[in-house]
Amino acid sequence: MNAIVAVDERWGIGKDNRLLFSIPDDMKYFRQMTLDSVVVLGRRNLESFPGGKPLPRRRNIVLSETLEPGEGYEVVRDLPALFALLKEEERPVFVIGGGQVYRQLLPWCRKAYVTKMYRDFGGDVFFPDLDEDPDWLLVEAGEEREYEGLAYRFTVYENSWPEEVDNDGQ
Ligand SMILES: NC(=O)c1ccc[n+]([C@@H]2O[C@H](COP(=O)([O-])OP(=O)(O)OC[C@H]3O[C@@H](n4cnc5c(N)ncnc54)[C@H](OP(=O)(O)O)[C@@H]3O)[C@@H](O)[C@H]2O)c1
Repeated sequence: MNAIVAVDERWGIGKDNRLLFSIPDDMKYFRQMTLDSVVVLGRRNLESFPGGKPLPRRRNIVLSETLEPGEGYEVVRDLPALFALLKEEERPVFVIGGGQVYRQLLPWCRKAYVTKMYRDFGGDVFFPDLDEDPDWLLVEAGEEREYEGLAYRFTVYENSWPEEVDNDGQ
């Protein structure tokens, strides 16, 4: 599985259960990358979507101990239940946040598609700083772009030692 995220210069990803900033090209990139795949997300992230609705044309698997399943999404109560579902899945899997879910699932991710925004938005939720983690290597860095005065860049990191999913998460 892979993670996809947009971070600010302090690896902040959200504030008050909302995104820090929305870049149209990044939204397009996220959609292209995840369309027809499986997305794994936390209950708070689902609640932050417009109308609290899951993402269309993707299998939405929500981690939650409290939420009941609803239209367009499934709920798993813990990581072993998630891995049991993923064992049967052949489509690509993307971890799409938020912070709690990224932190727990990063050891299983092979790649992280990180959109870096070069500003401090004062976030209250963070992605782990992959530049500080010796297991993660920056393998691709696109050219710097700009949207409404905000400089940003698409990057890809690779995990040198990803855990295997097909062992019930043990
Ligand atoms: N910049 C980006 O790319 C990006 C992407 C996604 C999200 N975000 C931002 O991230 C923020 C939300 O992140 P967050 O860390 O507050 O919340 P989150 O990770 O989206 O959701 C946390 C919830 O997920 C459930 N959960 C987590 N681990 C679980 C486990 N092992 N088993 C069962 N349930 C589990 C729990 O739900 P219950 O309490 O129901 O049990 C928990 O309260 C928002 O600001 C959002 O906008 C940013």
